[in-house]
Amino acid sequence: MDKFLITGGRRLEGHVTISGAKNAALPAMAAALLTPEPVVLRNMPRVRDIGTMRSLLDELGVDSSVTHEDHGNRIEIEARQLLNPLAPYELVKQMRASVLVLGPLLARFGQAQVSLPGGCAIGARPINLHVQGLEKLGAKIRIEHGYIKAETTGLKGARFAFDTISVTGTENLMMAATLAEGETVLENAAREPEVVDLAALLNAMGASVEGAGSETIRIRGVARLHGAEHPIIPDRIETGTFLVAAAITRGHLTLEAAEPSHLSALVAKLSEAGVCVTSTAPQSGENRWGSMNAECPGALRASDVTTGEYPGFPTDMQAQYMALMTQAEGSSLISETIFENRFLHALELMRMGADIRVEGRQATVRGKTPLSGAMVQASDLRASASLVLAGLAAEGESVVDRVYHIDRGYERIEEKLSQVGASIRRVSET
Ligand code: EPZ
Repeated sequence: MDKFLITGGRRLEGHVTISGAKNAALPAMAAALLTPEPVVLRNMPRVRDIGTMRSLLDELGVDSSVTHEDHGNRIEIEARQLLNPLAPYELVKQMRASVLVLGPLLARFGQAQVSLPGGCAIGARPINLHVQGLEKLGAKIRIEHGYIKAETTGLKGARFAFDTISVTGTENLMMAATLAEGETVLENAAREPEVVDLAALLNAMGASVEGAGSETIRIRGVARLHGAEHPIIPDRIETGTFLVAAAITRGHLTLEAAEPSHLSALVAKLSEAGVCVTSTAPQSGENRWGSMNAECPGALRASDVTTGEYPGFPTDMQAQYMALMTQAEGSSLISETIFENRFLHALELMRMGADIRVEGRQATVRGKTPLSGAMVQASDLRASASLVLAGLAAEGESVVDRVYHIDRGYERIEEKLSQVGASIRRVSET
């Protein structure tokens, strides 16, 4: 398993280019199952989960090809036919987002067998709402031997209200509804930018999706979808992670190819804590995205935060923010409302010297405490990022183990950090 060796105490200064969003890329790849024609996705991040999704498509008998481009990869997917409607446990357990093939397979081919994803470090991660929504659209679903077995003679539009806002639940049903007969209305839908990006791709493929980004999405079913080419939006969580990296090292970073409007709640919170964040609109025609600057010339101030569904403070930035608050003057209360077990990083931060008290879904961080380098272990994707950030600020050397977690969602993070002055290197252990 690979490890990162980090020597802390260096200010980060310079430019970082943000990659495409993993959580937009994954549903987009699943959407390609909805048409036999080629779907071309650009600005795709070079991260492990994308590789896993390609393996899953391959398992289904769907061809895909990757071309390295200046900014991200270009992935072409052509689901001419389905050789095998089965998404196996071995792949689904690696990446719960595999469940995103369920809706498209049902809508296009009338059948799907997808392993139940099971829980993960941060929570039980049920998919009952995905199942309930697809049943409302007319799918016959039974769960046996750890698999969701679904079939339909043709999905029919329906009204479905989510009793809990679910990002991939919204995405799965939106995709399924594009080929259902009649209109589907999704209520209490997720409003994340990744949902909006998926709707843009589906409409480019000939679907009729309205209201993405609001709590009510209307989809008018069509007979078939055609191919399309679509650039993936920037990764707002990678962007946020680097904003925190600038602040926690007292440095100054400029983040290129970012989308500032996707980070309003985070920027507001960082500003409250004393971080100076500015953003600029796209400079020229072909450059679709803007840039962001972050520095923290003065003292960091403790500032409470509660995670929430978009446009609230993202749960995927909670761990990174906790690392930052260990360096802020005062006591901050961090409340995690989305997942039931998303404080695993707190235990490792405490081993580096942080003063954190966890009680259920709330953690109190008392700062500022000097952090000292230590051997720490990553438990999940965003917890790993938190430990890297702490290592950058710690005195001495840290070893972050199990960095395969971080590779799932960050493209070459050690290279991007090294390029702006961090002392971090990957050690591969055979
Ligand atoms: C997506 O996960 C993201 N993953 C997660 O990012 C992110 O943390 C999460 O949304 C919340 O923003 C992808 O987009 C691939 P949910 P998802 O369904 O869709 C409950 C990362 O770090 N729920 O929005 O799986 C669930 O238990 C990952 O990139 C049900 O009860 O999350 C949770 O409490 C981690 N039943 C809440 O909804 C369901 O059927 C939100 O979960 C589905 C969800």
